[in-house]
Amino acid sequence: MAERIGFIGLGIMGMPMAKNLMEAGYELVLYNRTLEKAERLAEEAKREGGTAATVVRSPGEVAKRSGIIITMLPDTPDVERVVSEEGGLLEEMREGALYIDMSTISPTATRRLAGRVEEKGASMLDAPVSGGDVGAREGTLSIMVGGEEEDFERARPLFEVMGKTITHVGPTGSGQVVKAANQIVVALSIEAVSEALVLASRGGVEPGKVLEVLSGGLAANKVMEVKREKFLTRSFEPGFRAELHHKDLGIALSAGREYGVVLPATALVDQMLLIMKNKGWASEDHSALLRVIEDLSGHQEEPGL
Ligand SMILES: NC(=O)c1ccc[n+]([C@@H]2O[C@H](COP(=O)([O-])OP(=O)(O)OC[C@H]3O[C@@H](n4cnc5c(N)ncnc54)[C@H](OP(=O)(O)O)[C@@H]3O)[C@@H](O)[C@H]2O)c1
Repeated sequence: MAERIGFIGLGIMGMPMAKNLMEAGYELVLYNRTLEKAERLAEEAKREGGTAATVVRSPGEVAKRSGIIITMLPDTPDVERVVSEEGGLLEEMREGALYIDMSTISPTATRRLAGRVEEKGASMLDAPVSGGDVGAREGTLSIMVGGEEEDFERARPLFEVMGKTITHVGPTGSGQVVKAANQIVVALSIEAVSEALVLASRGGVEPGKVLEVLSGGLAANKVMEVKREKFLTRSFEPGFRAELHHKDLGIALSAGREYGVVLPATALVDQMLLIMKNKGWASEDHSALLRVIEDLSGHQEEPGL
């Protein structure tokens, strides 16, 4: 019989990822800060005649009942809390258990946590993802994994349910390093597309036409494809919250400082994401970076596809 899987953090990403695991036949042990979300998911599965899921009241309970534990939480302090707090994962983690953190957090904190997990005779993988809420729902995430090869192989069947591009990138922490690199490219791409759209719109060209033309040449990129509707309708429901991307660039900048690598454009976009937070746009999709350029330019594009 397959191992029971603990899943903690049922937000925009965690909820569909857990759902996909249940649909693939895995038995899940669920915990979330707002417990009703876990209860709703378990009831939904029961109604649809799917695999049973148990809802528990603490991360420790999850660890007690699971051979493999997955977390999908917002930020480094959230993961540290769930692992180390009273009633946390470490208190009950079984010898031989595998802990997989799929959140985007600091590589340095990841290495520290992995050390503590190993002291319990268990092991840890960092396996952050890209592909957004759509990728999470469709099970097509790109998953970048740091840790031991044998742990990666043990987790692979689960990764194959949740994702499509699954890569073991190196030792503990390296999944998070690659994710930081990914977040630099995504943030800077959104920033570039935003500047291009506001410039063209101010110059009297319809933004839809701009995306169409740019998509056919060297400027083509995934941001223009995936965020097209948000850019054009200016409805910025997340998706990926701007405040989480600000957190990610903070991780990238700290790593840059630690390694002595200059990241000037990342630092600039980090400040623009901070502007979004200060403007009250923290919970909008990161593509609402467009608003910062519009705001500073005193020009707003006409919404419409
Ligand atoms: N959204 C994306 O497109 C995307 C893409 C790639 C990677 N990521 C990364 O994936 C991670 C999750 O992102 P998300 O968008 O799913 O965030 P989210 O919607 O805020 O979900 C986070 C979930 O974690 C739960 N949580 C927070 N603290 C907790 C705690 N101490 N104990 C138990 N549960 C706790 C929250 O509970 P409540 O229900 O009480 O709020 C929520 O359900 C982040 O690290 C993010 O950077 C996100």
